[in-house]
Amino acid sequence: MSQSQNTQSPKEILQEIETLKRERNAVIIAHNYQPSEIQDLADYTGDSLDLSRIAAQTSASVIVFCGVKFMGETAAILSPGKTVLLPVPEAGCTLADHASAEEIREMKKKHPGALVVTYVNSSAAVKAESDICCTSANAVDIVKAIDPSRQIIFAPDYNLGHYAAKKTKRDMILWNGCCPTHALLSTLAVEEARKKWPKAIFMMHPECRPQALELADYIGSTSAMIRYAKQQPAGTEFIVGTEIGLLHRLRKDNPEKTFHVASEFLVCPMMKMISPHDVRDSLKKMQHVVSVPEDIRVKAKAAVEAMLLYTGNPAKTAD
Ligand code: 13P
Repeated sequence: MSQSQNTQSPKEILQEIETLKRERNAVIIAHNYQPSEIQDLADYTGDSLDLSRIAAQTSASVIVFCGVKFMGETAAILSPGKTVLLPVPEAGCTLADHASAEEIREMKKKHPGALVVTYVNSSAAVKAESDICCTSANAVDIVKAIDPSRQIIFAPDYNLGHYAAKKTKRDMILWNGCCPTHALLSTLAVEEARKKWPKAIFMMHPECRPQALELADYIGSTSAMIRYAKQQPAGTEFIVGTEIGLLHRLRKDNPEKTFHVASEFLVCPMMKMISPHDVRDSLKKMQHVVSVPEDIRVKAKAAVEAMLLYTGNPAKTAD
């Protein structure tokens, strides 16, 4: 721990971040699962789709990405002229690690002619092997829009793929990956939460297991849950079946409603690695720059842009 880390108050750190941000012409963006203090200091918070749109369109020269590695990579893929910083480079994603580019190439060989739809929770190299990306916010619509005669390989999240297949009645080749945090929400935990809060609306992320999703009242991405909760009347009670970080935003936006996390195990350790000190150090030392090899970036960008074009928000990038 540096000398300044020991002596500076939280307020002084925030002030230093503000000053550095202006000097660097930087923007701080944070995923909905980040710790509360990071969400509060960020210029924008959002789900994976929101954040990739912001990364594509910002006029800032530096993007400080408070999230995990694949999110920083997506920003770097879309914004080659900008510097993307990931304050803690070790913040990865176990789900993304479930598929390698080599494995996707093998799968394509096995199923020639199949279209590869890849969840953004994947490495840049995997995106480079894909035809189109999706997020949890648009997976169903993207699958629905694909020519029904084309076979689809959906990677790397089995649960999201299963959910999209069910909603679209498509028979897809599903990868066998999952988010270990969402996978922890068992049907038993769902039933216990229901018993504890019988009047609550149960919201769940589509990364939860199919058996758990069967028991949900509402299924959506983190931003979809934020919108849905806002639409419900004051006094409504919710059980939230996703990473605990989302509860900060839900409570902030809806002080007159009650939110319970579905299980105390819904904590992604990777999403909890960044502190305000790390954000400050990242801006001060311009560390840790996310870079994607150019040949991979160009191919991955085509898959991410195919998604952004589809969702009516074409990326405005330099190349
Ligand atoms: P959202 O796109 O809903 O924010 O989800 C991202 C994610 O990483 C879920 O684990």
